[in-house]
Amino acid sequence: MKVFLSGFGTVGQGVFEILLLKEKYLKDNYDASISVVGVVDSSSFNIDKKSLCGFCVLATKTNSGKCGPNARDGKPVTEIMDMTDYDVLIETSPTDIENGGEGLANIRHALASGKDVVTVNKGPLALEYPALAKLAEENGCILKYEGSVGGAMPIISLCHTALAGQRIKSIRGILNGTCNYILSRMDTGLPFSQALREAQQLGYAEADPTYDIEGIDAASKVAILANSIFDRAVTIRDVSVTGITAITPEAVAMAAERGMVIRLIGEVSDDRLEVAPRLVPKGHALAISGTLNTAQVLTDLAGPITVSGRGAGKHETASAILSDLISIMESRK
Ligand code: HSE
Repeated sequence: MKVFLSGFGTVGQGVFEILLLKEKYLKDNYDASISVVGVVDSSSFNIDKKSLCGFCVLATKTNSGKCGPNARDGKPVTEIMDMTDYDVLIETSPTDIENGGEGLANIRHALASGKDVVTVNKGPLALEYPALAKLAEENGCILKYEGSVGGAMPIISLCHTALAGQRIKSIRGILNGTCNYILSRMDTGLPFSQALREAQQLGYAEADPTYDIEGIDAASKVAILANSIFDRAVTIRDVSVTGITAITPEAVAMAAERGMVIRLIGEVSDDRLEVAPRLVPKGHALAISGTLNTAQVLTDLAGPITVSGRGAGKHETASAILSDLISIMESRK
């Protein structure tokens, strides 16, 4: 299978590393190989119609900050995608939650060209999920996005595959690691601003951390879950959002006196679409600490099913991309 990699930041490089790590695994278990035939970053691109050398591209990026010898000179990614033949677009470029940005254009272009897409880019899905799903269907393409919600936490495939046959009544979860880290550090008496600084140093926060602390990043994930799991044609603009900027040390201390913690909870069901700080009893499945994400899925037959995992990270997010790629490979057999 040939893939084109749009975006070569932390996650994009993680994908290349994982494909190298799993080369033998893919051969042994699926009798298959996944070759990267094109890669683009913000200033350069690199193409080999057969297969790019992963070690070489990664070394070039480390040494020069560029993914290849060709300057983009303002060329849109879509133009570069058309320079080579590929089966799947992997979209990992920086997200644009206002209007979808280049990521949205890339996904549209790939689907319209009959290519399958794996994206961890949240903006395009949170804004245009119904249109993208329709475009995929019209062109006989597969659109996968496991890593867009909760990074390594397998919430999408859990609901679609493992919980098949059940009615999912609601999903409530911690969908932003930055906020959870800040709130957990505030539990230990740290002021908000210092906890935010620490979260940024850990590399979890969005380029603009306002998106994290105002609840917008979590809202984008709620919108994706609403479309994907509840078949609701909504966008991030339909989500009622309250962030954590108004949470004071006094509020955290009062919660603690009552055996509670404050957590930013995203909730989605047939009639709810919300992100807001909530009081959660200590010891509850949603009272986790640190940068972890978690989701509690309420089902009609099995009751609550809880999953948690790392919501961001290089190999963590790339692991979700690998699982989407394998799923596409199996479907296309
Ligand atoms: N900024 C996000 C978070 C990264 O803190 O969870 C993953 O979407």
